Amino acid sequence: MFTSKPTSRFISLALILLISFNFLINSTANEDSDDIEDLIALDQEQDDETSSQKPSSEAEVLTKAQRIVLELNNDNTQKVISGNEYILVLGYAPWCVRSAELMPRFAEAASFLKEIRSPLLMAKIDAERYPKAASNLGIKGYPTLLLFVNGTSQPYTGGFSTEEIVLWVRKKTGMPIIRINSINEADNFLKKHSVFAVGLFDKYEGPDYDEFVKASTTDNEIQFVETNNPQIASVLFPDFKFSKLFLGIVKSEPERYTSYEDAFEEDKILQFLNDNKFPLVTILTELNSVKVYASDKLQVYVFAEADNFKKLIELFQDAARKFKSKIMFVLVDIKEDNLAKPFLTLFGLEDSEETLVTAFDYKTGAKYLLESDPTPGQIDEFGSGLLNGTCPPFYKSQEIPENKGADILTVVGKSFDELVLSSSKNIFLEIYTPWCLNCETTSKQVEKLAKHFKGLDNLVFAKIDASVNEHPKLEADDYPTLLFYPISNKSNPIKLPTKSSSKELAILINKYLKEEAHDEQHVEKDEL
Ligand SMILES: *[C@@H]1O[C@H](CO)[C@@H](O)[C@H](O)[C@H]1NC(C)=O
Ligand SMILES: *[C@@H]1O[C@H](CO)[C@@H](O)[C@H](O)[C@H]1NC(C)=O
Ligand SMILES: *[C@@H]1O[C@H](CO)[C@@H](O)[C@H](O)[C@H]1NC(C)=O
Repeated sequence: MFTSKPTSRFISLALILLISFNFLINSTANEDSDDIEDLIALDQEQDDETSSQKPSSEAEVLTKAQRIVLELNNDNTQKVISGNEYILVLGYAPWCVRSAELMPRFAEAASFLKEIRSPLLMAKIDAERYPKAASNLGIKGYPTLLLFVNGTSQPYTGGFSTEEIVLWVRKKTGMPIIRINSINEADNFLKKHSVFAVGLFDKYEGPDYDEFVKASTTDNEIQFVETNNPQIASVLFPDFKFSKLFLGIVKSEPERYTSYEDAFEEDKILQFLNDNKFPLVTILTELNSVKVYASDKLQVYVFAEADNFKKLIELFQDAARKFKSKIMFVLVDIKEDNLAKPFLTLFGLEDSEETLVTAFDYKTGAKYLLESDPTPGQIDEFGSGLLNGTCPPFYKSQEIPENKGADILTVVGKSFDELVLSSSKNIFLEIYTPWCLNCETTSKQVEKLAKHFKGLDNLVFAKIDASVNEHPKLEADDYPTLLFYPISNKSNPIKLPTKSSSKELAILINKYLKEEAHDEQHVEKDEL
């Protein structure tokens, strides 16, 4: 999977996301490639106005919905974009399975938005067939969603289910809040929504209400509803305690109702929603992954077989209650390669089948591993340690190998301190990875050098595979990297040019050795 520049010691979640997205594209490209073409073909066949009867099957409903999505091409694109206030454009490629999965949801959203008289037009463009028009729109990958407002585009930041698309569009087109006027409407709303924010205002005006509206527009994910009737509020939010002004969030079990206790200010409302929008334990899926990765909380990821989820959810719900709003708990099916592998690789545990409890601090980039069985006590300690900064970060390491008689010592994460930093010798270290292009050539040179300098008492040759070994003091921007660690200053290794000949490297090494010998004499003289 690593074809380009490898990851550094720490990796951000954004990168993980990219890797996992690549996984998706690579692993799924070319399968089921007919899906979209079929849909499009259906589209075109049905272009005559014959279907006034009720649609009789799901497929027909879908086909009907598809027709609400306008097809863009080289001729009409510019006119459509400049002629409409709001357009959501989906750029797709016929072979792309992620596009194929999104297409019906996109169409369903179009159909629903039409029903509620949204001012938005939904359009799609086959970016492979019309590459020029697509690239003029700014479509670079598949699938891409872009919102054009009066001709200016902005990226789509919502989720990928039908409901999430509708929700996002409503927020961007001036319909961010659903007003509920009767018990009946409330009942209907509840049939379709399990996560929402509800506000009660005796009048839909005033500073508190304005902040509520602002928050509803800024937030990208949560449906806001409003009512001015306490009875309706108590249908939507049964824990509702009678008052004139109220705000609460409702979500799926088990902490279904949470009321807001703070001042009505946009930032505070958004923070409250952010802290409370996820369930106590979130199961990671391809649909919610973007949202989960985007969360700015400290995240504990638990990797386990799906069979164990039920037990684990109960276990971690207790912890989640305790660390609420500070740590987010996410459960990942260890068998779902797309979701689990990119993370497990970071720990060198991609072949593990055991339940693993890990954590990521996206602010520092550090990663953590709970290296004992997840009992309630251990989880508690892990969580507190993460929060108070006492939990040691995890660094990948292979097992310490036997180095008996080797010309070049093999260093791993765990032995880096002992063999490099605390060693009383000068160390010449080669940092390599299995996938790097020039590493092999450099390795051969290093072997030659090691032979050349063999027998020299104060110089040791060593190498480390940075793809499976990490250490907080081991840094390389590129591979291979050659470093000379002088005895007198181990924390400031000297970088050697990797494109030099063996002879040039030998001259440099001799120079550094001489400087060191000089230094040592100085020290000795000073001491005398
Ligand atoms: C789009 O342009 C029209 C006409 O100039 C204007 O009335 C409208 O407010 C604009 N819409 C947005 C969302 O800026
Ligand atoms: C941090 O949390 C750990 C685990 O609960 C605890 O043992 C330790 O005393 C805490 N340290 C501080 C400084 O609070
Ligand atoms: C170690 O090297 C750094 C950078 O070259 C230098 O600033 C520092 O003074 C050196 N320390 C010693 C003890 O020589």
